[in-house]
Amino acid sequence: MNVSILVGSQWGDEGKGKIVDILSDRYDIVARYQGGANAGHTIQIGDKQYILHLVPSGILRENVQCVIGNGVVIDPHALMEEIEFIHSNGMDTKGRLFISQNAHLIMPYHKLLDNIQESGEKKIGTTGRGIGPCYIDKYARKGIRIVDLLNRKSLEEKIRVNLEEKNNILRKVYNHEELDVEKIIKEYTEFDEKIDQYITDVPTFLNNAIHEGKSILFEGAQGALLDVDHGTYPYVTSSNPTSGGACIGTGVPPTKITSIIGIVKAYTTRVGLGPFPTELLDEDGENLRDWGAEYGATTGRPRRCGWYDAFLVNYSRLINGIERVALTKLDVLSKFKEIKVCVGYEHNGKMLKYFPTDLIRLNEAKPIFEILPGWQKDITGVQNYDDLPSETKNYLGFISEKSGFEISIISVGPKRSQTIEI
Ligand code: IMP
Repeated sequence: MNVSILVGSQWGDEGKGKIVDILSDRYDIVARYQGGANAGHTIQIGDKQYILHLVPSGILRENVQCVIGNGVVIDPHALMEEIEFIHSNGMDTKGRLFISQNAHLIMPYHKLLDNIQESGEKKIGTTGRGIGPCYIDKYARKGIRIVDLLNRKSLEEKIRVNLEEKNNILRKVYNHEELDVEKIIKEYTEFDEKIDQYITDVPTFLNNAIHEGKSILFEGAQGALLDVDHGTYPYVTSSNPTSGGACIGTGVPPTKITSIIGIVKAYTTRVGLGPFPTELLDEDGENLRDWGAEYGATTGRPRRCGWYDAFLVNYSRLINGIERVALTKLDVLSKFKEIKVCVGYEHNGKMLKYFPTDLIRLNEAKPIFEILPGWQKDITGVQNYDDLPSETKNYLGFISEKSGFEISIISVGPKRSQTIEI
């Protein structure tokens, strides 16, 4: 039995899409467990680039079945667009895509409220995909779920009740025009016809699969430091990207999980607002952005870039239970003469023992760096660990020791072939 969770170990955008794609031909099922179309998983096959937001990256391997779990929030427009995109690329979703009946639907008012709130004073720098407002309704027990699509009468009733409240808020709090309830009812009823074939009792489906000896890869979206409970709150997303989220978000119990794989980028990036102790606001930061093509796959926003933060990844290892790591984008560091690694934070003249998740200390913390020699050689064609330059091996050894993990996969370029397995 092989039931693995793959998690982003930093602030997202670690390159999970490529690693899921590489690993997925060793699994029967790939399942998403949280987040929504705020994610952007990029996969390069040959010269063609695919960006997936909602459907698990395993869909690109024809023998893999894909699951969207109850923890995911589903924007029907994004989902239908993505299904069409998959079909137009000659791949099938029939009998291969399974969507949890308990997943919540992103409604037009979620996206609108997300954008209105982001245009105000208190910004998070969200992707504007309605993620936060949808999870708010889920926990307020007002959400509309995939299963509601199966009963037109109650779906209509739920939309009407929700719209009455949301229109009140739009008008009275934000002085915004109301949304058209009839239009939304029509839109979501039409969606029902397209999605019915995918609706599944996911906990039963996955637990039966495990019982039959099938292997499952849980594909985390975003990253551990964006976790609503364990991240840099309030500058986080509204779900649990950490490994624990996989059980809640699919109905597979913790006792069935056999391994946890962390995806770690060889440096650090973040999109949106919030603390980022190793951020580089100089030429080195611009070079990382240019050389690493660090622009959001979902929003196109330039990502903030900085040196590798071993103190942060060590915390991530702890809360996720990461055992092995796939290190991504190592080639992006190749041109630097010297590379810095953050090994801890100083606060009020003392070294912090533990990663601070409160904003005040995190904003005040001063990263302490060690400087390592760069390799200044092209490594994008290297296929074996032994053939890497000695400075590169030195860098890998240093960050794994400081972050407390073992590296088992190294990515040296976007293509499937640019991958070293140790
Ligand atoms: P939301 O998830 O759209 O509500 O955005 C909340 C925060 O999470 C913002 O800082 C976003 O930039 C960030 N975020 C959401 N999804 C991703 C992702 O896939 N990669 C990186 N950051 C993300």
